[in-house]
Amino acid sequence: MRRVSLPRIRDDALALDAGDELSALRGEFLLPEGVIYLDGNSLGPLPRATIARLEQVIGREWGEDLIRSWSRHGWIDLPLRVGDAIAPLIGAQPGEAVAADSTSVNLYKLLAASAGLRPDRRVLLSEEENFPTDLYVAQGFAALLGEERLEVRLVPRARIAEALGADVAVLLLTHVEFRTGEMHDLAAMTAAAHDAGALVVWDLSHSAGAAPVDLGGSGADMAAGCGYKYLNGGPGAPAFVYVRRDLQDQVLSPIQGWMGHDDPFAFEHDYRPAPGIARFLCGTPPILSLAALECGVALVTQAGILALRRKSLALTELFIARVERECAGFDLALASPREGARRGSQVSFRHPQAYALVQALIADGVIGDFRAPDLMRFGLSPSFLRFVDVWDAVERLKAILS
Ligand SMILES: Cc1ncc(COP(=O)(O)O)c(C=O)c1O
Repeated sequence: MRRVSLPRIRDDALALDAGDELSALRGEFLLPEGVIYLDGNSLGPLPRATIARLEQVIGREWGEDLIRSWSRHGWIDLPLRVGDAIAPLIGAQPGEAVAADSTSVNLYKLLAASAGLRPDRRVLLSEEENFPTDLYVAQGFAALLGEERLEVRLVPRARIAEALGADVAVLLLTHVEFRTGEMHDLAAMTAAAHDAGALVVWDLSHSAGAAPVDLGGSGADMAAGCGYKYLNGGPGAPAFVYVRRDLQDQVLSPIQGWMGHDDPFAFEHDYRPAPGIARFLCGTPPILSLAALECGVALVTQAGILALRRKSLALTELFIARVERECAGFDLALASPREGARRGSQVSFRHPQAYALVQALIADGVIGDFRAPDLMRFGLSPSFLRFVDVWDAVERLKAILS
């Protein structure tokens, strides 16, 4: 991976921006003046194209064509169409992903589907560091089945491999950890789970759109992830759900809605699952949100996921180097991996007064995140952030610390 020659003066950062293959992409987003937005990993910014597209969907499609738009404007196909657009970003084939519901709901569907494939095993394994919703969903699902059938077992990240015993039905992991940005080796963890006879469900919320994911090449079984982070789909955008092609017709969604029926408009009494990934649909798709997500995904596709990853690594490397050089002696400790290959698109530092520092930064126009108890978390989204933003953000952090 390309290494950044670290800027020594602000003009060097500007020179990096001038040579940036993705520099034009920033103009595709509506970004407020005077704000350095280091939170695209929580909520991606608004693509300009989304405004015009939503005006069209609302004014023309909904406003004028009304219910005819389900066929006339292809509304009914939107979940699968957006799924197919996301597919290449996560190493999936057309027909392996669909956009629907939230990540939490999709994880529930996938845990039920995967556990159903291992009826003789009674452990759902995950890591203590996993995002809370993943753990809550797992706990809720296990409680529904009863502890005789399924038990959630949590182990520290470093102990996952050894916890993969013959009783594990499903391993549930988040590819990039939400606090530290540490990235799992997806292929290696998938192989380890398969060697133990378990299935793997991946949460790709913090990787989809910022780093290439190779679900297909890794043989991963199932995955879900957020549409509103690096995919820029807007607040509460639909999530996506992936099931490997050869598993799709062996599994069922536990939430059997009419949109996942083989023939929704036959209005039959009995559920017959749609073939393929469409059985993971449930209710009427949120067309406005899906239209917005389609615009956000199109920008990621246009940029190219490999180019985005290159820039993401350069931005995070620069941020780490600048903070460690400029803010030395202020009790900051890097919480993210130093090695680029093990790092997502965010950098976190620990500090005893992390909360106050993040608040001061926000007041100064640098929007980052605080995560209890002591983490400052900075998302360095490669689609709109400039090298000079990284430079300026660190200057402001230094000034606040001083
Ligand atoms: C790893 C991870 N999974 C899931 C979620 C949230 O899922 P949902 O969209 O269902 O709220 C988040 C939110 O930040 C997350 O970081």
